[in-house]
Amino acid sequence: MTAPILAPDAANIAAAVVALKAGRLIAFPTETVYGLGGDATNDNAVAAIFEAKSRPAINPLIIHVSDRTMAEQLGQFDDRARRLSERHWPGPLTIVLPRQRECPVSLLATAGLDTLALRLARHPVAAALLRSFAGPIAAPSANPSGRISPTTAAHVAESLGDKPAAILDGGPSTIGLESTIVDLSGARPRLLRPGGLPVEEIEALIGPLAASDAGERPRAPGMLASHYAPCLPLRLNVRTVESSDALLAFGPRPLAGAGTSLNLSLAGDMREAAANLFAYLRRLDASGARAIAVMPIPAHGLGQAINDRLCRAAASHGS
Ligand code: TXA
Ligand code: MG
Repeated sequence: MTAPILAPDAANIAAAVVALKAGRLIAFPTETVYGLGGDATNDNAVAAIFEAKSRPAINPLIIHVSDRTMAEQLGQFDDRARRLSERHWPGPLTIVLPRQRECPVSLLATAGLDTLALRLARHPVAAALLRSFAGPIAAPSANPSGRISPTTAAHVAESLGDKPAAILDGGPSTIGLESTIVDLSGARPRLLRPGGLPVEEIEALIGPLAASDAGERPRAPGMLASHYAPCLPLRLNVRTVESSDALLAFGPRPLAGAGTSLNLSLAGDMREAAANLFAYLRRLDASGARAIAVMPIPAHGLGQAINDRLCRAAASHGS
């Protein structure tokens, strides 16, 4: 059994809101990846998210908001957070801030931390759902913990079955990589996860970001080395392939000789490559090859996040 995949019309969004209010889970599209949402103020709903994903409870969830006013009721914004959110919200950016004292978000959702990760997504279906729900929605990516994030409603149905009450179908995620996470809870801004918003754009507004593992604070607990696990072993930066390989190519000169081959972007366009990454990894993983071979991908702009996900996928094999 899988959850119904529903068109995101007004009636289905209203029904999704009723389900969320009752503590049930709804999968919904964002421009980065699909999220598995629950009422962020309801401990039972939040517990159900952790259970559905088999996610360790030490790994806090992103809290989605409908607007800046709601965000400022939950987290303590400083000047840097205002500048970033004014420019890049709604969008593929998550900001970690100290919790407000009266913040109603479940402590389970934030793994007991005195900070929380806030996101205002741009996707019209996410926006409509949050507006009608009129409260914060905790929503990690809608995949089992450690697996590849979903960029279509069908991916969610394949991996989570009937765990959500419904899946709102907003089409393929246009960005295709999770949001960039910046930690502004300390004196030095820190990059916790490269993602759909290139780091260069953040640094242009608030100055250099420290690396996630620099200094005393723990990095995003979810950023384990092994993550985004495909089933097949992955080889990165390949210069040659064999017929037993499934090739993940990039650019105008794909290597010849692989059994199967998908090109992230023939034109070498980083946005197109990001949008295709997770769906192509899934397809190559199911291709019957012995391994996935990945051509080199430039490290600038969205390439930083693409290479980050590929390194984690490669590190995950065998775990
Ligand atoms: O694009 C995205 O960000 C998607 C969509 C659905 O919004 N969500 C997503 O959530 O990727 P998730 O749960 O898969 O990743 C959230 C990351 C985890 O690495 C978690 O450790 C980190 O955010 N995180 C959450 N709250 C945090 C906090 N208070 N401090 C540090 N890291 C936090
Ligand atoms: Mg995730």
